[in-house]
Formats: sequence, structure tokens, C-alpha cells
Amino acid sequence: MILVFGSLNADFFLSVRTFPAPGETVLTPGALVKAGGKGANQAAAAAKAGGLVKMVGAVGTDEVAKVPVTALRALGVDCSGMQVSELATGMAMIMVDEHGENSIVVASGANTAVSAQAVAQTALNEDTILVMQMEVPPAENFKLLHRAKAAGVRTVLNVAPARPIPEADLKLADYLILNEIEADAVYSSLFEKTFLGVEEKAAAIAEKTGGACLITLGADGVAGAERGKMFKVSALPVKPVDTTGAGDAFVGIFAAMLDNGLDTRQAARYAAAGAGLACLKIGAQEALPTLKEIEARVEEIKIS
Ligand code: RIB
Repeated sequence: MILVFGSLNADFFLSVRTFPAPGETVLTPGALVKAGGKGANQAAAAAKAGGLVKMVGAVGTDEVAKVPVTALRALGVDCSGMQVSELATGMAMIMVDEHGENSIVVASGANTAVSAQAVAQTALNEDTILVMQMEVPPAENFKLLHRAKAAGVRTVLNVAPARPIPEADLKLADYLILNEIEADAVYSSLFEKTFLGVEEKAAAIAEKTGGACLITLGADGVAGAERGKMFKVSALPVKPVDTTGAGDAFVGIFAAMLDNGLDTRQAARYAAAGAGLACLKIGAQEALPTLKEIEARVEEIKIS
């Protein structure tokens, strides 16, 4: 079972030709409202790829809550542990430019109220893969990480967005998944000297924390390291329409493939194929692929 502890948002998408400069106003025909939040996106990605998924997070009592929760339920995600807060459901304002790049502001709202206590101890056992990101209070993540490790759970921590994490807590993550900005933040929290190569950075982080480290590089694939060995995973050649949530797709599919018994490299390979496919429509969850769709493209992903 995959247990996702994290954020849920309603995403408001605004398509722009170029991002407005400070002080500039640009017009767009209309906004699209879609399910989002890094936690919810990861839960959706894992479920769409065939995983049995439970999501624990917090939403408000408002109508906006229906946007992320309905989407998860439609994919069969167990939302019975969802907390309800007096704060507004999380919302994200997402501008997507003509190259599919995005710029995001998140109003965290109810996500700041989520508590690790909402995760029942019975959900934490050797058959569980726990997936976390950093859009909820870090202290709640760390409490849950400690409980999870003590219960023999495999833990996946996506340090997104980048926030400081004590070294002792980083060491509780069996799999750290980071983009380049997040990798720089984690690396500089652990080391004083600077490394130039992203592969060396992944290797240094993995060696220091004792787990695997995967650094996602967009069109350049993934740089990984585990148990003293470095590896590269290529990316799917796609023309992205919207890269929002591609990292989340990677994390969710990676967890689902670990749950299917794949090793780190193979799970990363499937996740890279799925993350590429997830960029083909506007919306973090709109283009999430099924396992069959991933399998149809995974041969294009090379490991070196
Ligand atoms: O990673 C993409 C997600 O970040 C969006 O869905 C948005 O809600 C923000 O949390």
C-alpha cells in the first residue's frame, strides 16, 4: 500500500505567452480550475499507475475542497483519513507560458493544519510505502517519518518545495527525490564544499544519508545514486504542453513501481516515462498515464 501524506490544492491555471514582468498586466481568455497539490498529484499518479493508495491531508469546509478530493476518489484513492480544517482549502495560481514552463504561487490554507496524528499506526507496516513532500508543516512530516521508520515502512521524501531539513531527519528517508534547486538546497545543508556535477551531488547526498538519491533534471532525465553507485536515467522525448506536476508524477509512479517490486533503477525508469507523458496536457493530473501507457513507452528510457 502507498500512503501519501501531504498537500491538496485546487489549481487555477492561467495560460500566458510570456510571464508578466513586475508591474506588467497581461490578458488571458480564462482560467482553468484543476485538481492539484503535490501530495494529491503524487497520490493520483500512483493510483493511475495501478497502486493501492491512501491519502492523508487536510482540506477546508469550502466548495473548493471538492476539486482535489473528487479527483482522488475517482481514481480509487482512499480519502477516509482526510482532515477537515477551518482554514480555506489550499489553492495554487499557476501561469503556464507558451513553452509549457510554469510559475506557481501556493496559498497553503488547510495544508498548514495537517497533523501526523491523522495517520493510524495500523497504516504503518512493512508493506507500506510512505510518500511525503514539503507543502505541509515539516514538523508533522518528521514526526511521521520517525514513526514510519520504527514500523519498518519504506519512506520516499520529495523535498518540494525546498525547505531546510535536519540531517537526522534526511537520514530517515530511504529515497530522496529532488529537482536541481532542491538538490542544491539539500546538498548545501549537508556539505560546505561545492560539487559541480549533478551526478556527484546525488552520490554525495546518498552517501551521507544512507538512502538512494534521485535528482530529476526535466528533459535531461534523472541523476541517481544508491549504495555507492551512480546512474543516469534518460527522459522521454516529448514536446511539453505543461510541465506542472511532472515531478509529482515521477514521485507517485516511482512509489507505485517500488510497491510492484521493482528496484530503484527500474522504478525510476518507469517514473521517467510516466513523468514525460504527464506533460502532454494542461493540469497536474490531466495527463497522468496508466501502467499500460507507461509500459508502451518505457523501452525508450535508457539507464546508464
Ligand atoms: O507540483 C505541482 C503542484 O504544486 C501544483 O499542483 C500546485 O498545487 C502546487 O502544489
